[in-house]
Amino acid sequence: MKIAVLPGDGIGTEIVAEAVNVLNALGLKFEMEHALVGGAAFDAHGHPLPESTLKLAMASDAVLFGAVGDWKYDKLDRPLRPEQAILGLRKHMGLFANFRPAICYEQLVGASSLKPELISGLDILIIRELTGDIYFGQPRGRRTAVDGHFPGTEEAFDTMRYSKPEIERIAHVAFQAARKRNKKVTSVDKANVLETFQFWKDVVTEVHAQYPDVELQHMYVDNAAMQLVKAPKAFDVVVTGNMFGDILSDEASMLTGSIGMLPSASLNAKGQGLYEPSHGSAPDIAGKGVANPLATILSAAMMLRFSLNQPDAADRIEAAVQKVLAQGLRTPDIYSEGTTKVGTAEMGAAVVKALA
Ligand code: NAI
Ligand code: MG
Repeated sequence: MKIAVLPGDGIGTEIVAEAVNVLNALGLKFEMEHALVGGAAFDAHGHPLPESTLKLAMASDAVLFGAVGDWKYDKLDRPLRPEQAILGLRKHMGLFANFRPAICYEQLVGASSLKPELISGLDILIIRELTGDIYFGQPRGRRTAVDGHFPGTEEAFDTMRYSKPEIERIAHVAFQAARKRNKKVTSVDKANVLETFQFWKDVVTEVHAQYPDVELQHMYVDNAAMQLVKAPKAFDVVVTGNMFGDILSDEASMLTGSIGMLPSASLNAKGQGLYEPSHGSAPDIAGKGVANPLATILSAAMMLRFSLNQPDAADRIEAAVQKVLAQGLRTPDIYSEGTTKVGTAEMGAAVVKALA
């Protein structure tokens, strides 16, 4: 089991160190190799995703990623900015399926802005297609309009597109994930307005024929945005395209109230994956030892489950996280009165201890 460890920038190094400690405490054999990525790689090698880092990632079973970015790189040309590293990894590794679970831990129900009864027991999984849609469709650009409402004026345009195999493979991923959960998939589209998403709906329906044991529901994206805050527990697996998924996954992640708790996985067709917390490099708290390492530790659990075929070890990590929360340990982002405030390293050490 070869893991590429890419801590990145800001709190990335602090939280990944804790996740590595947790992995090392499992009693399994991993080959872990560290490499620079993002701003740290730009400083050392002049590029946010050096060839050597990319090679290591491609040759590994999984990538454990921290976060990249810092305000100090804002003036760089776009291709040299730290954030390009994550886009490059997605592209070169073919990571087309993004998993974002939104789980509400009983001890943190109060951290949500929604009523406790709406989110208590919440456990949903958003699956976002990551390599297609309007984010990558060609042609795109700026030109002088020849028609439309204002011919002769400057305009910009993008192209929304999905091929049949692209929709089929993400649909299979969603139905297979649902089989291991509550056997319900909600496919989110805008078929009433967009041909791309009428096609999406048709193809998902076609793939569904191979999964008669899984319930399929279609929902327009505007309604899905409403239902996510009205009755989030009605969902199990949500599958959608790149742009709708970008927006809905952020909305869903906020249901649980704390970005420091939310893991993510991005998978390719070979089962390789990149595992990272949903948050960024948090330059405002970097170096202070207060970042919540649990999103990264839970990402490591997803890595064990999805890329390394170690579901028991994944269960153990998740149970250990529940245990430290039950003990009342809280980093500042999830702190509430009556609990015990701890730093990054203390939280990581508590999870290691809870594993035993
Ligand atoms: P952010 O997620 O880094 O921070 C947002 C807020 O949440 C901040 O107040 C931060 O202190 C807090 N926060 C985030 N993670 C936390 C944790 N584990 N524990 C406690 N508090 C936490 O988003 P922001 O500020 O918009 O971006 C900062 C940098 O991160 C930018 O350069 C951005 O481009 C980059 N970024 C990188 C991502 C990645 O590496 N995949 C994803 C999102 C942003
Ligand atoms: Mg987003």
